[in-house]
Amino acid sequence: MRALLLKLSESKRLAPLIMSNGVSRRVARRFVAGETLDDAIEAARVLNAAGRSASLDLLGENVSDEAGARDAADGYVAMFNRIARENLNANVSLKLTQLGLDLSESLCQELVERIVAHATDLGNFVRIDMEGSAYTQRTVELTKRVRAKYTGVGTVMQAYLYRAEKDVQDLLSVGCRMRLCKGAYQEPPEIAFPEKSDVDANYVKLMKLLLPSGIYHGIATHDPAMIQATKDFVREKNIGRDQFEFQMLYGIRTDLQQQLVREGYRLRIYIPFGTDWFPYFMRRLAERPANLAFFLRNLLPKSSGSGA
Ligand code: FDA
Repeated sequence: MRALLLKLSESKRLAPLIMSNGVSRRVARRFVAGETLDDAIEAARVLNAAGRSASLDLLGENVSDEAGARDAADGYVAMFNRIARENLNANVSLKLTQLGLDLSESLCQELVERIVAHATDLGNFVRIDMEGSAYTQRTVELTKRVRAKYTGVGTVMQAYLYRAEKDVQDLLSVGCRMRLCKGAYQEPPEIAFPEKSDVDANYVKLMKLLLPSGIYHGIATHDPAMIQATKDFVREKNIGRDQFEFQMLYGIRTDLQQQLVREGYRLRIYIPFGTDWFPYFMRRLAERPANLAFFLRNLLPKSSGSGA
């Protein structure tokens, strides 16, 4: 089912059908803060007041023309201005295919540099999300090139990839900040651990490489076992709670979010917003069968009962 949902998340034909459906829109609102920057800013304000920082993500991926990529870059620059004006504790997450990586690597780098230069001027930070494995190498390389010019940028490592450990070592050697996650795409066993237990073991291994590095990293997970392993490790190694942060997705495990904040850990919430929410929504459904069941239950017409 996970594989099927992830395959469907790439469907250009299914997207408009799901996105125009009122039930889908309502269910998606659990994971997406809204369609406008105002919606995301309001969500960040509420989360900041609850002791959590934020990372705003303007939804969109795999743009098909240069104008779309440039529009997305303008959107990110505007987002940083708004964050600064409103004095929010928030940075930004973006995807390279939203900034034209499928069209031209030089266009993409030009746009990322423009955004990162602006963020760095404002004392802020850009997180480059990690997409499917077709983009891993280019994402690592582009991040390193941009980081050689501006410090306010980092990327994401996916623990399900066999190559992740080598990438972590490589990026640590240039002082790059990383977000560690398990990985959200459908990848073949030739390049990614098929078993959850192996992904989890690799996650813990990578967390233990990242956190003693003296670089500020994000431990992104809702998995209580990963969170406990991190808490145990930092206690054992005497790593301060201000030396790293946990990260979670908007609308997911808010109980755990509250608990971490109560316990004095730093927590950042990834806040997606925008009109292009279909692939993001499908990946969230794929992560948890209960989400799909909830969606389908709402989608099916209500039974009219057993009346004659
Ligand atoms: P796991 O999937 O094992 O889930 C553990 C528990 O968390 C579940 O039992 C459930 O309780 C809860 N949970 C997880 N997903 C849920 C959902 N959708 N709905 C409800 N409950 C859920 N991936 C990627 O490939 N590239 C990226 O750049 C990012 N970026 C990113 C940022 C942040 C802040 C987070 C938290 C995650 C990502 N991800 C990502 C997604 C990540 O790779 C992964 O798919 C999800 O976080 C789910 O993995 P968990 O670590 O939560 O564990």
